[in-house]
Amino acid sequence: TTDPLVVFTPSGKRGRFPVGTPVLTAARQLGVDLDSVCGGRGICSKCQITPSHGEFPKHGITVREDALSDWNAVEQRYDDKRGLKPGRRLGCQATVQGDVVIDVPPESQVHRQVVRKAATARAITMDPATRLYFVEVDEPDMHSPTGDLERLARALKDQWDIDAVTADLSLLAKLQPVLRKGKWQVTVALYRDHHGGAARIVEIWPGLHESGLFGLAIDLGSTTIAGHLTDLDTGVVVASSGLMNPQIRFGEDLMSRVSYSMMNPGGDAEMTAAVRGALNDLAASIAAEADIDPALIVETVFVCNPVMHHLLLGFDPVELGQAPFALATSESLSLPARDLGLDAINPRARTYILPCIAGHVGADCAAVALSEEPGKSDDLVLIVDVGTNAELLLGDKSRVLACSSPTGPAFEGAQISSGQRAAPGAIERIEIDPATRTPRFRVIGSELWSDEPGFDDAIATTGVTGICGSGIIEAVAEMRMAGLLDESGLIGSAEQTGTWRCRPEGRTHAYLIHDATETGGPRITVTQGDIRAIQLAKSALYAGARLLMDNMNVDRVDRVVLAGAFGAHISTRHAMVLGMIPDAPLDKVTSAGNAAGTGARIALCNIGARAEIERVVRDITKVETAIEPKFQDHFVAANAIPHKTDPFPELAK
Ligand code: FES
Repeated sequence: TTDPLVVFTPSGKRGRFPVGTPVLTAARQLGVDLDSVCGGRGICSKCQITPSHGEFPKHGITVREDALSDWNAVEQRYDDKRGLKPGRRLGCQATVQGDVVIDVPPESQVHRQVVRKAATARAITMDPATRLYFVEVDEPDMHSPTGDLERLARALKDQWDIDAVTADLSLLAKLQPVLRKGKWQVTVALYRDHHGGAARIVEIWPGLHESGLFGLAIDLGSTTIAGHLTDLDTGVVVASSGLMNPQIRFGEDLMSRVSYSMMNPGGDAEMTAAVRGALNDLAASIAAEADIDPALIVETVFVCNPVMHHLLLGFDPVELGQAPFALATSESLSLPARDLGLDAINPRARTYILPCIAGHVGADCAAVALSEEPGKSDDLVLIVDVGTNAELLLGDKSRVLACSSPTGPAFEGAQISSGQRAAPGAIERIEIDPATRTPRFRVIGSELWSDEPGFDDAIATTGVTGICGSGIIEAVAEMRMAGLLDESGLIGSAEQTGTWRCRPEGRTHAYLIHDATETGGPRITVTQGDIRAIQLAKSALYAGARLLMDNMNVDRVDRVVLAGAFGAHISTRHAMVLGMIPDAPLDKVTSAGNAAGTGARIALCNIGARAEIERVVRDITKVETAIEPKFQDHFVAANAIPHKTDPFPELAK
């Protein structure tokens, strides 16, 4: 007689096993992805499976009701205490009795797939650096004296095949009481570095630890700091929260923070202390929001631009303010979180910081590359992360290039006469009627357009307060399309444009969008100075893209991805009318949302992604805009709207 056939779904892995083999054992032998924290002791419930009955012509078998063993006492006890879902069994307790088809539900898979975000089909495969292991440790013995740590290490080797472990002093200090409290059964959280070396015991609990393990993916921006608290078992983001970067008081943009450091001895240390304080506040508040003990946060991953990177690490960023823009290190960093002053989380938590690409192209751009994978693209993709510094990636399967471009803060509404941050009351959408040259607009906080009934009531609490970055881009593009601006960006007079809204202001003209002065509000105009600021910003962005295209030897890109919060808000058509981005079919210009934040989550959830991005970054060709003479030529030509010489055939369609 032959042994029963065991088929696992969805993997399709199959093999024959003697009657009485536990399902978990069969799964392991076949390399089926079936989870276990307790090592088959029937207490963690991670190994749940669902057997199927009936005819399986595909596999040539009939599965009888009794293909698995009856419930044993362990499984019965688990079900009495916790309850198993109907049809579910514990894979470590149920044994094979006959031919059987066994489904491994997603939550029982170790390398389960986690949705990145609703918009994309791609998933994150769970393989975190820190995992839980339940072990039974031998009690000490007068006759063969060994230390508790050594016996714990041996148990991990015997029960989990883990070779070498280390623990730091603070962990050793709690080892003995915890082992005894747990009656020699403990759960340890083990961190493995992707560069190898001994696994590190990050935490130890008596008995089976069931309140989970968490990591914090942090997008450390110069304006805002966003954190995503992630369950390291399921990959689910359990809470997200953000706060303003308190370094703003030392300078709005990156360069002013670098100069603060240059001008003030100890200024860098002040800024480091400020951001670390904010990170602790963020960790505490996000843990409170998710109702978890902050000590369960055992990992953090950071993505940030180079200046933020240095200030987080406590490096003076002064070298980043001047050519040749040398980083203290561009390599990724794995280090204890407490080295960064992060004391609101587990005292032995680890931090991983993605590598920087170059002195101007940071770990945030590396995270975008990890999330958007230009190096795996069949077609040529340009990825633009717009901020005070635009970071650009251009590439396909053959190679990937990167550069940054000094756009300045105009796209964020700064240095714009009526500009403001994206907040309720800010104009975010504008249309100008090409016949009457009258504007209509929408403000953040209301769905209504300004010429729709009820608009005034809808915005009563905020009023119209200014124009945000996406609003100013649309305003300038609409002004161009309505003939209020010429190609050089000059605003026409009332006579030239035929609208009283173009009014003299000094020696130039300004276009009136909204006048609320009668009710004590602002007068919102687009001035010639505003147009110039946007032209400078968009020329820098476009010139950066063109420089990468030159280096790639192409004059067209197949698609454009706009990354970042800003990219998610701007209208792609207006961006192209303005000539911010090279010509491409409009349906091939998409937004990736917060791709840097997604990259941070991927690196948090998957240890292999850390090695991958380090390899990818090493292979990226860095193009330095500051020393490329052609950058200036591209910059000047891109000053016209949309462009002096480059054609935009897609716009004509
Ligand atoms: Fe823990 Fe089965 S492996 S309950």
